[in-house]
Amino acid sequence: MSARLIPVDPFDLVVFGGTGDLAMRKLLPGLYHRDCDDQLAPETRIVAVSRSEIGRKAYIDEVEAAVRRHTPEVQIQNGVLERFLRRLDHVALDATGTAGWKRLASLLQRNGKANPIRVFYLATMPSLFGPIAENLATHELITPESRVVLEKPIGRDLASARAINDAVGAVFEEEQIFRIDHYLGKETVQNLLALRFANALFEPLWNSGHIDHVQITVAESLGLEGRAGYYDTSGALRDMVQNHLLQLLCLVAMEPPFTFDADAVRDEKLKILKALKPIGAPEAASHTVRGQYQAGAVGGQPVRGYLAELDRSFSPTETFVVLKAEVQNWRWAGVPFYLRTGKRMMERQSEIVIHFKPVPHSIFGAASGKLVANRLVVRLQPDEAVRFFLMTKDPGPGGMRLRNVPLNLSFADAFNVRYPDAYERLLMDVVRGNATLFMRKDEVEAAWMWIEPILAAWEARAEAPKPYTAGSWGPSAAIALIERDNRNWHEDAE
Ligand code: BG6
Repeated sequence: MSARLIPVDPFDLVVFGGTGDLAMRKLLPGLYHRDCDDQLAPETRIVAVSRSEIGRKAYIDEVEAAVRRHTPEVQIQNGVLERFLRRLDHVALDATGTAGWKRLASLLQRNGKANPIRVFYLATMPSLFGPIAENLATHELITPESRVVLEKPIGRDLASARAINDAVGAVFEEEQIFRIDHYLGKETVQNLLALRFANALFEPLWNSGHIDHVQITVAESLGLEGRAGYYDTSGALRDMVQNHLLQLLCLVAMEPPFTFDADAVRDEKLKILKALKPIGAPEAASHTVRGQYQAGAVGGQPVRGYLAELDRSFSPTETFVVLKAEVQNWRWAGVPFYLRTGKRMMERQSEIVIHFKPVPHSIFGAASGKLVANRLVVRLQPDEAVRFFLMTKDPGPGGMRLRNVPLNLSFADAFNVRYPDAYERLLMDVVRGNATLFMRKDEVEAAWMWIEPILAAWEARAEAPKPYTAGSWGPSAAIALIERDNRNWHEDAE
């Protein structure tokens, strides 16, 4: 079975930060895959922008090496790779000054044969988003069919997020601004929408009458990966929760939008963000846990602690966080959403687990075994799947013994296709002008509004993050937080 591809019009993509890690690891290999599927028109071109002059030839060599490094060998088609590399160019440019902008303008003009669709991808430090937008306007590079993509982080608090939104909004219309959260491009995240809104089965049960609680875990086995400078000024709450985990929470909790259009979906997500119960100083101790990894072992390999990676003796930054969130509306009153994310955890595992309520009364005796409440597990990575745990009868004679087993929909087994990376899907959505899977200005700001009091409470408490051993599931306080509610983390409940 193969996925149906919707063609996209020719476009010019200008990547600011075109020699950076994101471009080399995700954007360019992703576009190469789109080229393999013949989704890029012959006229489509990619112009990388960075500060230093490196020349087209050297840039192309660098991209070729990056695509080969980040693509399994069987997926390298030399003919397509050559065609892809011919699309590339490089311009050295001063994002905050004047140097290089005229060259970019003339490259895009190409003797009057410009592509009408222009995508400006800002994969730079967020402090450059405003100046770049202003320069794009000054040099008259913004056509009616232009779009701008903003990479995260969009600010580090509400004020800085607003400043970015205002600066970019001064030259682009909101419909032209695509704030990316790559979690929304993950296949299983979109599958959650299909599960909820393309099946009649779940909706009647999707509320506090039937759901006991929800767990959203994004566990990473990686550490800092050379991003210490950024990460230590950010921490897990800003880096993962403000965006990715809150977006997942919104998709689980939102009301059915009346259509799958961008604003209909985003209106519903916004309502959830606004309905989140504030966590401030009085709740911080009972509703949050911060952790920081110490030396340990991941996948059998010894790894250093966070401070050793930083080469410092102290840092107040958390690499792990648990929050107990609550959505204050009729559907979800009294249903906790436990959010958990961390680096250097036992394994890479991202899951949304919907824990249903137990049956009201068991007709089976003790000999039948313990009745376990149903769980719906939407697994984002590493292996995309949806599993629905049910109680069934153990096969065979010898009485009624019950067993908790999953109905297992493993996408790799069910659909024999290569799973596209989130960025591939999202980049094509930008070209098509489809903003459904992107964040609107008010969503980003509402998310910061909820996060800020947590940051303020932590700062006021001035408590060091709780240590956890690399390769574990986080500090013991994270287990204590959920056990206080007589519940367990999903991995302990199986
Ligand atoms: C990024 C964070 O947004 O998401 C990183 O900045 C994190 O710290 C990454 O590692 C995780 O993404 P994924 O797709 O690997 O789960």
